[in-house]
Amino acid sequence: MKAPLSAKDLKAKREKFIVPGVKQLYSNPPHFVQGRGQYLIDETGREYLDMFAGIVTVAVGHCHTKVTKATIEQVQKLQHTSTIFMTQPMVDLAEKLAEITPGKLTKAYITNSGTEANEGAILNARLASGKNEVIALEHSYHGFSHLANALTGNHGWRPETMAAAGVVFAANAYCYRCPFKKTPDNCSLECAQDVERVIQTQTSGKPAVMIAEPIQGVGGTITPPDGYFQMVKKILDNYGVLFISDEVQTGFGRTGKHMFGISNWDVQPDMITMAKGLGNGTPIGAYITTAEIADATTKQVINTFGGNPVSSATALAVIETIEEEKLMENARVVGDYFMEGLKDMAKDYPIMADVRGKGLMLGVEIAAEDKTPMVQETAKIVEFAKDNGVILGKGGIFGNVIRIKPALSITKENVDTTLGVMRKALDTVAKVAAR
Ligand SMILES: Cc1ncc(COP(=O)(O)O)c(C=O)c1O
Repeated sequence: MKAPLSAKDLKAKREKFIVPGVKQLYSNPPHFVQGRGQYLIDETGREYLDMFAGIVTVAVGHCHTKVTKATIEQVQKLQHTSTIFMTQPMVDLAEKLAEITPGKLTKAYITNSGTEANEGAILNARLASGKNEVIALEHSYHGFSHLANALTGNHGWRPETMAAAGVVFAANAYCYRCPFKKTPDNCSLECAQDVERVIQTQTSGKPAVMIAEPIQGVGGTITPPDGYFQMVKKILDNYGVLFISDEVQTGFGRTGKHMFGISNWDVQPDMITMAKGLGNGTPIGAYITTAEIADATTKQVINTFGGNPVSSATALAVIETIEEEKLMENARVVGDYFMEGLKDMAKDYPIMADVRGKGLMLGVEIAAEDKTPMVQETAKIVEFAKDNGVILGKGGIFGNVIRIKPALSITKENVDTTLGVMRKALDTVAKVAAR
């Protein structure tokens, strides 16, 4: 086998042959050649504790034995026919999704990615409602295609081109930087009420659908307060608007108490979109909806690789692993422990201005006392952590939120290691800032 390139040589080659928009997280990136559970290994054999799981994707750990076996067995049996021929894994997966999603969501469309899942769901919602306009939330991320990108309320992820028409944005539930300048003591969920203002002032009054992430991922782990989605859903019901919960990041037990994040607000969506953790790294996405809504898609649709036997068999094995290894429960227990540790640490480091999230979907906003986002410092913390063997994510509209979204199988010991490295990183950054 050919020896892997050094990280430096690979970086130079990547810059030469890959379009520049495909950016990497670090200024000095490692070259990963192997993954094992919650660990990544670089070309020199150095091990890193992975607290970002790709981007919130490796739900059951890198190269999980059961999942890998399911993939290999299916590749060796039958890789592809397309959906115009019958194969069983796609149908078994759809049946499993109907079993684990809340309410009467029973019919699924399997895709290759979250972007396609959102595209498909919006199309289906438009067909079912006979209407067109879509409401999304500010700071959202829903994908990179023409439409999914237009649903994305974050300038950093939107190219300077003409966006798809028919999308309007409501304020998000960003308590730390409340768009309505409220605090928890005087909040009347103005952000939820904003959905009604947007319907009345920016649409025909009859939008087709609203799409929202239960906890905004790329947006920086923006976690709405209790009551938020309940109020939003009530407004949508009053105006006859369908609701899509984008669970690409929050799905499959990540938030600890429920298989899907929206259930934390006790709200029943009309459609759920999913991807990332569903495949544990294998390309797959899906949307699921009620039979009534699904039945509006009467024209033929084909997605050459969507629902392919290999991705479907892999996804089934991922869901079974989450159930068998009780990973949702682990996300709750270890996530609560993590949250406590971060909140404790924040007492010593005031620049950890807001610690938020649920289960193993956690975020730490790095900001000065006056809330000025500390963007450079955040990048330094994330780079320092990597140099000291821990992979953290970064996001938020300003790029000043540390994102922690590891495999659901991590241990409390992994949490202690991460907190230790974060302390060292914060000590270093604080010293540099004081100089
Ligand atoms: C909430 C959310 N929706 C949709 C997507 C798009 O998924 P994909 O990158 O698989 O197309 C992402 C990707 O980060 C996401 O975070």
